[in-house]
Amino acid sequence: MRFFFHNFLILALTAGSGGFALGADALNERDVSALSVTKVQNTARKLAFSDMPWDDLRAKVDPSTVLLDGIPESVYETECIPAIKDGLNATALTSEAGAPAMPGYDYVLKLDTPSGVCMMNSVCALKNCGLDASDEDATVGEKISTSWVELMEYYDFSMFDQSNNPNYDLPSTVLFPQNAGDVVAAINFAKEHSLEVSVKNSGHSFTASSTKKDTLHLNMREFEKFSSIGIVECSDEQDAVMEDDLSNQPCKVALARNKPAVVHVAGGEDWSDVFASVKNFESPQGNKYHAVGGAAGSVSPQGWTWQGGLGGTSGGRKYGFGVDHVVQIEMVLPSGLHVLFGPTSWEDADGFVYPRTTKVSGVCKDETGTWGPCQDDVNFEDLWFAQRGGLGGTWGVVVSMHLQLMEQLPFNFVIWPCSVDGSAQKKALIEFIVNLMVDPSAIGLNEDDSLGCGSPDEISSKICYGEGVGEKVVTAWMSFIVDRNQTLHNDGGLSYEQINEFADCAISNDLVEDYAELVTIPPPGPYAGKIQSTGMDVGLTGNNAEQYIILPKKWMIANKDKAVSLLAGARSYHAFGGPNTSDQLNTLSEAHRGGGIMYIASYNMKPFDQEVDAETFYSEWLPEMYDFTDSDNFPGYLGSNHASSATLGPLKSDWTKPCPMNWTEAEREEKCISLQEAIFGTKLLKRLEGIKETIDPNYMFDCNRCVGNTRAMSKPNDEETAPPSEDSGCQGPFSTATVTVLASLLVGWMVL
Ligand SMILES: *[C@@H]1O[C@H](CO)[C@@H](O)[C@H](O)[C@H]1NC(C)=O
Ligand SMILES: *[C@@H]1O[C@H](CO)[C@@H](O)[C@H](O)[C@H]1NC(C)=O
Ligand SMILES: *[C@@H]1O[C@H](CO)[C@@H](O)[C@H](O)[C@H]1NC(C)=O
Ligand SMILES: *[C@@H]1O[C@H](CO)[C@@H](O)[C@H](O)[C@H]1NC(C)=O
Repeated sequence: MRFFFHNFLILALTAGSGGFALGADALNERDVSALSVTKVQNTARKLAFSDMPWDDLRAKVDPSTVLLDGIPESVYETECIPAIKDGLNATALTSEAGAPAMPGYDYVLKLDTPSGVCMMNSVCALKNCGLDASDEDATVGEKISTSWVELMEYYDFSMFDQSNNPNYDLPSTVLFPQNAGDVVAAINFAKEHSLEVSVKNSGHSFTASSTKKDTLHLNMREFEKFSSIGIVECSDEQDAVMEDDLSNQPCKVALARNKPAVVHVAGGEDWSDVFASVKNFESPQGNKYHAVGGAAGSVSPQGWTWQGGLGGTSGGRKYGFGVDHVVQIEMVLPSGLHVLFGPTSWEDADGFVYPRTTKVSGVCKDETGTWGPCQDDVNFEDLWFAQRGGLGGTWGVVVSMHLQLMEQLPFNFVIWPCSVDGSAQKKALIEFIVNLMVDPSAIGLNEDDSLGCGSPDEISSKICYGEGVGEKVVTAWMSFIVDRNQTLHNDGGLSYEQINEFADCAISNDLVEDYAELVTIPPPGPYAGKIQSTGMDVGLTGNNAEQYIILPKKWMIANKDKAVSLLAGARSYHAFGGPNTSDQLNTLSEAHRGGGIMYIASYNMKPFDQEVDAETFYSEWLPEMYDFTDSDNFPGYLGSNHASSATLGPLKSDWTKPCPMNWTEAEREEKCISLQEAIFGTKLLKRLEGIKETIDPNYMFDCNRCVGNTRAMSKPNDEETAPPSEDSGCQGPFSTATVTVLASLLVGWMVL
């Protein structure tokens, strides 16, 4: 049993986190450069970063708010690496022993390392997660495999040794804001001195978007928390008019979506905090309400949500992506304005679950601390659109948001704990899961049961919500195998005994009441009681050599054999395929909305035994999935969850060829579609870049691989006049690069 549980943990751990951030080249050949270069030069700062009058900022923030300056880069070696090593060791030891790994060490990294500059994905402390590192001739593939071997096999962290590697991208000044006023003070200070700002909630970024040298870094871990006292039941607001200060606006939106309650979540909270608040609300039994969130407890709702939000463990297929759950946002904009905004008018929309947003209104906080009309003109529609799906870290600092809550449904954990060694068994399981995700009637289940089930990158377990849904899945599985009895026997070469065992393999477990209970860190240890999270930090490895390609649901249904053969040889992510929960004013790509399953492909597709070669896949199958006919409009098809620095789109000159891993980073960035464009597609990215120019004309926020960051490519080389730009931090919870490593470590016992 522990082995199944362990299997599940892996799932949980590697799951849903994620953020990611965007990349470096979408725009370099486009039209932005002249304009933004000029603006950037105009704001070049006068003083060196280390000579800034930091005491002026100290005087403006809360007296107990900490501002560290002059943090040396060596802090990464003295403070972060030991924590990472311990985590690797603990993970390796516990997984050898067969016990649940994951002591919660990433909470240590996030919460207990004094400087606030550690990164969950260790190599993302280096510029562009190590891809820009010293050896310019090395190919990206070589860089990835070297760091993999060093970190994982030899525990060799010499790449972080300053004498070997001067490529740190760490801020030397870190503010730990405790409230929105501190953030306003920091932004105004940055504005006055033309500084760049970077932001970190959890530091899970796979693209280094939450760290950046020579920025004023805001580490949000000391920020006040709201969720434990921030749950509001909305029924009283049913007939109320919308208040001008938007105080009841979150409930008005929730009610318009038939949701009973909302939760107020602060910038620095993590999913472990929020799930605990929701679970413990009101009744001693808890579990009155349910939040859709990430799978890894240390991930922050902020970064997770702003890059889309895959709810594989929390009913996201049924209720919508993370972006669809936000009903109000509170931010500090690059202008220094402290704003609160959300939909104030909407209409029912055919074919959509939630109403279409027709108007977004906002208010500003004045010096007396009162919310009222804004003096400046702010385009709240654009902000609402861009922030929800356009990634954290680039639009300003989100200090809080309100999320809608659902009624809690019964929780079932379905697992296939038998070993699936033959390809006949493997394919049967995949075929069943493909049907469960995109065509449930083919296995005798209804749409609603199907939507209740999902998972992160795990085939052989599903978290299902709804009365009796787990049992229904188990029953459907049995009849599925009974139906294939003769085929599995005659063509698959399985004995009847094997087939009978296989038919009994699925188990539905409803012993725990919710996801949090399933994956709580056991005592002892300082993080006992929190939700499990990433178990190890693997650096520039697995995720960086992969692309997260969203397979359209329609394509999967029409091409089930192809889908099965692809997924039989790869990991895949099961948080897609639900009804359209868009409010039609957000940035989540059409690929996400129309997705069936996210396929996790290595570039050359070699490590796994797919029955299609890379060339056929990219040149024949992908063009069946996405429209490549308009050469001015690349159709985004990559998932943003876990997208990493090394993920780029295909060749600019030929979309049917993946970006070679045996090129250098410089060559790849020059010749391949940027990560941003590969996620959003050309049109959506252009619109976002336009909004970025308006909201943040001086690029105070300029995080690596974030929207607008590509424009950095066209900046002047002259570092003296080049300004407060470079790269900065995205907010967020990006998750860990853990996945591939875990997958490979666990291959021996994983069901697939
Ligand atoms: C891991 O643990 C083993 C056994 O306790 C120890 O010998 C080794 O030095 C540790 N490695 C690291 C990198 O901490
Ligand atoms: C498969 O068929 C064999 C032979 O008829 C039978 O003994 C066995 O119980 C069947 N198994 C399943 C799962 O249907
Ligand atoms: C869902 O709605 C959005 C509009 O926000 C649209 O772009 C997308 O194509 C729709 N997707 C599906 C699968 O209906
Ligand atoms: C790079 O990889 C491609 C595809 O695998 C291969 O055809 C090519 O020969 C490689 N180039 C070099 C320089 O190794």
